[in-house]
Amino acid sequence: MKHEVIEKNVGLLALLMVLAVSVGGLTQIVPLFFQDVTNTPVEGMKPYTALQLEGRDIYIREGCVGCHSQMIRPFRAETERYGHYSVAGESVWDHPFLWGSKRTGPDLARVGGRYSDDWHRAHLYNPRNVVPESKMPAYPWLVADTVDNSHTDTKMRALRGLGVPYTDEDIAGARDAVKGKTEMDALVAYLQVLGTAIKNKR
Ligand code: HEC
Repeated sequence: MKHEVIEKNVGLLALLMVLAVSVGGLTQIVPLFFQDVTNTPVEGMKPYTALQLEGRDIYIREGCVGCHSQMIRPFRAETERYGHYSVAGESVWDHPFLWGSKRTGPDLARVGGRYSDDWHRAHLYNPRNVVPESKMPAYPWLVADTVDNSHTDTKMRALRGLGVPYTDEDIAGARDAVKGKTEMDALVAYLQVLGTAIKNKR
């Protein structure tokens, strides 16, 4: 049997496996780089403002992505709860994307506008203030710490290099735009814009 030759030769088996996986992977992955649906931003979407961008970095720093996904799947149970399912065009300017894979807490892809700023502040300061049974950790230091604005413009310039359409003015005004703001201000600004490019049909 020819197959026996492959099964008994580990080197050959490994080589053929790599070949099979690569062909399968390439045919799935490569087209995504060229399709409009994955490359074109959703109509009307704006890049994160300086403050929202710093908020996003705080979201990354605090590990929110470890408990919250930002990826609504196209299932009725999800769209009924969270709103319109996530589309690729919403993530084209997200570097890195924060889709996540763990939902200890709810999905946050469309949390923007769902609660007031005050609700978020109270919740992040101590989630038990507003959701008594919550298991989410408290982040009280966010109100005390001011945003480190020493790299805001550099970050925006780097993102522009990756295709995010920041203007020279955006970049020039970046440090001033976040100066003196608390980390809480930034994080709430970020949360409030999440998913708002597509109308929240709930
Ligand atoms: C250990 C897991 C965990 C971490 C880490 C975590 N959360 Fe949560 N989060 C939860 C749980 C559980 C809930 C649901 C209970 C509640 O509303 O407090 C929740 C709820 C929320 C909600 C309300 C969502 C809704 O639709 O009702 C927001 C907003 C939120 N979290 C933001 C954050 C942010 C921002 C961070 C990082 C600073 C964070 N979470 C970190 C577990 C977590």
